[in-house]
Amino acid sequence: MLQNIKLDIDYVRSQFPAFSDPLSKDWSFFENAGGSYVPINVIEKLTEFMTSTKVQPYAEYPMSKIAGDNMDKATELFAKMINAYKNEILIGGSTSINLYVLSNALKKYISKNDEIIVTNQDHEANISPWRRLTEVGAKIVEWKFDLNNHELEISELKKLISNKTKILAVTHCSNIVGSINNLKKICKIAHESNIIVVGDGVSYAPHGFPNVKELDVDFYTFSLYKTYGPHLALLYGKEEILKDLPNQNHEFLNGNYPYTINPGGPNHEELVSLIGIYEYFDNLHKHHFKDEEKIILNKINKVNNLISLHEEIIANPILDYIDKRSDLKLIGKNKIHNKDRAPTIAFTSHNISSKKYLKNWYKVRLQPEMIIFTRGDV
Ligand SMILES: Cc1ncc(COP(=O)(O)O)c(C=O)c1O
Repeated sequence: MLQNIKLDIDYVRSQFPAFSDPLSKDWSFFENAGGSYVPINVIEKLTEFMTSTKVQPYAEYPMSKIAGDNMDKATELFAKMINAYKNEILIGGSTSINLYVLSNALKKYISKNDEIIVTNQDHEANISPWRRLTEVGAKIVEWKFDLNNHELEISELKKLISNKTKILAVTHCSNIVGSINNLKKICKIAHESNIIVVGDGVSYAPHGFPNVKELDVDFYTFSLYKTYGPHLALLYGKEEILKDLPNQNHEFLNGNYPYTINPGGPNHEELVSLIGIYEYFDNLHKHHFKDEEKIILNKINKVNNLISLHEEIIANPILDYIDKRSDLKLIGKNKIHNKDRAPTIAFTSHNISSKKYLKNWYKVRLQPEMIIFTRGDV
């Protein structure tokens, strides 16, 4: 059950300089594809790094030591926030890049005619890197969503698994349907057949950071630029699998996982700015809960719930409204109930083709007081 404390939206807005910036303050910001605005803490951490510690990190002189310490701190904090170990966290340029380098590393497990399951509910980022493994003999099997309700039915997955299946690539939350897939159950079923599960959390994480150990997913990635950060993406991998993957980085890093997965190092200043995301969540926690919670994961859970409750309150009337309009067809569930759906809303119109608007921004007036600016690509 979600707790009954309400998100203090004025406090939240006060943390984001964009809401008082002359250029952006008058806009309602719906453009999830471009990422989220960033809180002041992220901007401060980025500025501090660029001002004082923009040097080669991990040497003994003060600026270098502080730079390295802060890079480690950012990774450790994020590991705690998603319930992982710090040597299970990789920071890459984007989710697409993370999945590309991961698929290349997982080639090792693919022999001729082995099968990889991808879905047609996923973003291309978690489909095409796996389809490319046909080059090394893999066969691709597609888990298709149900045409009536747009959901990925687990009963269908069971039919697709064979003793040849090696990898399952599946989204935690579709960026069109909005449903939260039961990744924990999916992993349990896949693991009974020793299948590696790669979860795409890009559309999930902005609505609450995942608990990767509870999900028991093998790999999980999400875009940090959609979770209040700069343009980076996090890749989590289970240590027991990561440590055996081939080195795709410099030779001197042989055996030094997780750094073996990505060619080259992370973007130092942006990595350090991730501390600001933790601080933002910590501030939200302090502001709303009067307890002295010390465990980072517990704080994150509580703030996640606060955000989810707020999302339910603002998204359910929109879902209800679209669902009741006879000229519109809502895609996905018509109500968020206890975090079973993200407030990512897609619909089609029976009268207007979105193709007409593909190149232009346009204004949808849903009700006199409710206007959405969007691009006609739903
Ligand atoms: C569900 C989903 N997965 C993956 C991606 C790709 O993420 P990135 O832009 O970090 O490559 C996106 C981008 O919008 C997405 O919505």
